Amino acid sequence: MSDFDRLFAAAAAARAKAHAPYSKYHVGAALLADDGNIYAGCNIENAAYPEGWCAETTAIGHLVMGGARKIVKAVVIAARIDHERVPGGRFCTPCGGCRQRLSEFAASPSTEIWAADPDGASQHFTMAELLPAGFVLET
Ligand code: THU
Repeated sequence: MSDFDRLFAAAAAARAKAHAPYSKYHVGAALLADDGNIYAGCNIENAAYPEGWCAETTAIGHLVMGGARKIVKAVVIAARIDHERVPGGRFCTPCGGCRQRLSEFAASPSTEIWAADPDGASQHFTMAELLPAGFVLET
């Protein structure tokens, strides 16, 4: 099984757990970490809307608590959107805040991130493509 296939399966299982009663937009994310494990997460919404968070953020929390520190590859699964304007719709890409969070733990600017739909079609990005000129704190 390819890394993509393993990550896709984990993200799909996570997506099935999404708590998204407000947007009804279910998202799953899976991260292959430097320790060889896959950490996954779903979006978790809240009645106080701004207090909800994204699937990528849940997955990053699991990665850190699992003792890993680097994301080697990632897959995010959600329904395609914007069908009205784009034929076939566009893939769900990580939001701006999640791009910054993914960047914090990405192994390198070339770390691969796939935006996939539930049927397995996907669009491939690198971390640098998703977040060019991202903020880093010099030490
Ligand atoms: N969402 C994610 O979980 N990940 C993304 O990459 C984009 C958006 C969630 C947040 C919210 O629960 C729902 O999708 C609709 O915005």
